[in-house]
Amino acid sequence: MPLARSVSVTSLTGLEDWEDEINLENAVLFEVAWEVANKVGGIYTVLQTKAKITSDEWGENYFLLGPYLEQNVRTQVELIDPPHPAVRRTIDSMNTKGCKVYFGRWLIEGGPYVVLLDVGATAWSLDRWKTELWDSCTIGVPWYDREANDAVLFGFLTAWFLGEFVAQCEEKPFVIGHFHEWLAGVGLILCRIRKLPVATIFTTHATLLGRYLCAGSVDFYNNLNFNVDKEAGDRQIYHRYCMERAAVHCTHVFTTVSQITAVEAEHLLKRKPDLVTPNGLNVKKFSAMHEFQNLHAQSKAHIQEFVRGHFYGHLDFNLDKTLFFFIAGRYEFSNKGADIFLEALARLNYLLRVNGSQVTVVTFFIMPARTNNFNVESLKGQAVRKQLWDTANAVKEKFGKKLYESLLVGNLPDMNKMLDKEDFTMMKRAIFATQRHSFPPVCTHNMLDDSTDPVLNTIRRLGLFNSSADRVKVIFHPEFLSSTSPLLPVDYEEFVRGCHLGVFPSYYEPWGYTPAECTVMGIPSISTNLSGFGCFMEEHIADPSAYGIYILDRRFRALDDSCTQLTSFLYSFCQQSRRQRIIQRNRTERLSDLLDWKYLGRYYMSARHMALAKAFPDNFTYEPPEETAAQGFRYPRPASVPPSPSISRHSSPHHSETEEDDERYDEEEEAEKDRRNIKPPAMTGPVPEWRRPP
Ligand code: UDP
Ligand code: G6P
Ligand code: GLC
Repeated sequence: MPLARSVSVTSLTGLEDWEDEINLENAVLFEVAWEVANKVGGIYTVLQTKAKITSDEWGENYFLLGPYLEQNVRTQVELIDPPHPAVRRTIDSMNTKGCKVYFGRWLIEGGPYVVLLDVGATAWSLDRWKTELWDSCTIGVPWYDREANDAVLFGFLTAWFLGEFVAQCEEKPFVIGHFHEWLAGVGLILCRIRKLPVATIFTTHATLLGRYLCAGSVDFYNNLNFNVDKEAGDRQIYHRYCMERAAVHCTHVFTTVSQITAVEAEHLLKRKPDLVTPNGLNVKKFSAMHEFQNLHAQSKAHIQEFVRGHFYGHLDFNLDKTLFFFIAGRYEFSNKGADIFLEALARLNYLLRVNGSQVTVVTFFIMPARTNNFNVESLKGQAVRKQLWDTANAVKEKFGKKLYESLLVGNLPDMNKMLDKEDFTMMKRAIFATQRHSFPPVCTHNMLDDSTDPVLNTIRRLGLFNSSADRVKVIFHPEFLSSTSPLLPVDYEEFVRGCHLGVFPSYYEPWGYTPAECTVMGIPSISTNLSGFGCFMEEHIADPSAYGIYILDRRFRALDDSCTQLTSFLYSFCQQSRRQRIIQRNRTERLSDLLDWKYLGRYYMSARHMALAKAFPDNFTYEPPEETAAQGFRYPRPASVPPSPSISRHSSPHHSETEEDDERYDEEEEAEKDRRNIKPPAMTGPVPEWRRPP
């Protein structure tokens, strides 16, 4: 089999010691996950953002294996003929035996190849394959669990593909199979049972039991020694748990996305991970330093437009003094901390009111739930706003024309005649249309489970109804954002850029991409010391809050104390001046390098080398690189004063462009000082041993 190129493992990492030891010629990497070209949550983000550096490293020898889902393929994948002869023969062979296997390019940066397996097309094999799974490893999957059945089909197809691929290669390849999460685990188990010559890696992005236990009322982190079989059985996920645990124990190399999940995995899955592979992002630097600040202002204008419509008839607050907070992600009410956030918002509402604050906070909850589309009241809001805009424009046109005609004949216009009765009638009609007898809605959609929905019920209990007196307004948008929405036509990235603060007070969060994404866009965020991201930032930054990375203590405080701390974070944020927010955004953005795959990708490389050495000991060796001084590096405190309202030299709430420009100048100097001080994070050090939290 002609393999396209020899791979230098030093190209991105600086791991010079390995250069001579590892020759990856004739190696092929398959990354297997249910979220390949299929957006569910953060695993999609891992694969999508990592594609560029992995493609740069592996070139034509990198393939992602995922499920074939027609709608996703139509929008994200260009189907092509496989250029790789062995891959082509493998797919032809499977398709002649009744499978439906597709090949294409995923239309994302890096444009990696994807092999998509249609699980529905081989559903007729389900019983036979389930029997085989039972006979080989006594995992029984009940008929009613559709997701687990799909995992079985996907797993058998994956193993079939990998086995066939090895057979079709003329020269024995060194295959790496990197499997993500339990849904891809069956393929890994079968690779080992069938003794396929595949070096396997299993990465867990969350443990099944951890997610379930945390979602219940369990003091999880103080009681990690659960009776795992019983707990899984009680939650009717025993078969899923077995698949996950079997994959973890079968794999050559086991990794998790954070240290906190490594500890969890050791207790719940009974294997200590070999490595932690933290999640990165594909960080894009703007050539102009303040480009991201301009983008903030542009995107904020779009959100303000939406707010004008949503609050029509109740626009009694100053949009220039309005802050936008948000929480986003999978709808797991308590795991994602939506519960504590709502409680803190109610307290913030009280504090802003009693202190007579001029600030209004509009808070968005972007969490997909079951709905049957937008509700009329929300759509009407945008229609009313549009009508007012059209009316203003129509009057402006007429006004302009009259003014022009008057100037043409050398007269100053008679202002009393510029608008006629018709214009006033039109404007009055438009104003009448803005009258409403209800508060602006807290939810943008018709919820299917309205009466039992946890966000809505908490809002009802706390009385956060968007009344005029409320300084904190709430908008629950139970659908992921899209630029084609008739209501809020912005994509998620644009939305994040336009907000002031992302709030992610999660209780269960193995990594948590949402605050990481905020960071690289220069938007401050709140995360927790129970999230992989929060712990990672705490480890690498001397004073995270000075950089707009607020880390809430949910580990060592009682719930009510954490809520008080969250409220104080929110309230202090509201007290910042515009100038202070701008400085803080600049600092936040400067942390981007820490989260770039350019650096974090090395942990994946490390995992692959370790797997190759374990699976093919005659051909590969693995030795962790020596520890260097860069290891354990921490970002120092910022060079200038912290952005605390009390210390600020300019705490005036009044905003002027000139002041901002002055501040930018200071900030550039500060950035330069930091740049001289800051080395990139642990690029050349070894993969750190993971530590237990205290
Ligand atoms: N996200 C999105 N659209 C939205 C809201 C969120 O695409 O409207 C994405 C977000 O960019 C992030 C992912 O959803 O990458 C959530 O990942 P995270 O790791 O925070 O949580 P998970 O859902 O995997 O538990
Ligand atoms: C960016 C823009 C400024 C704008 C500011 C608003 O920095 O470059 O022109 O004034 O954002 O900041 P704020 O925090 O009030 O949204
Ligand atoms: C999981 C976790 C999330 C993590 C993501 C990517 O879905 O819940 O915390 O960021 O995987 O690793």
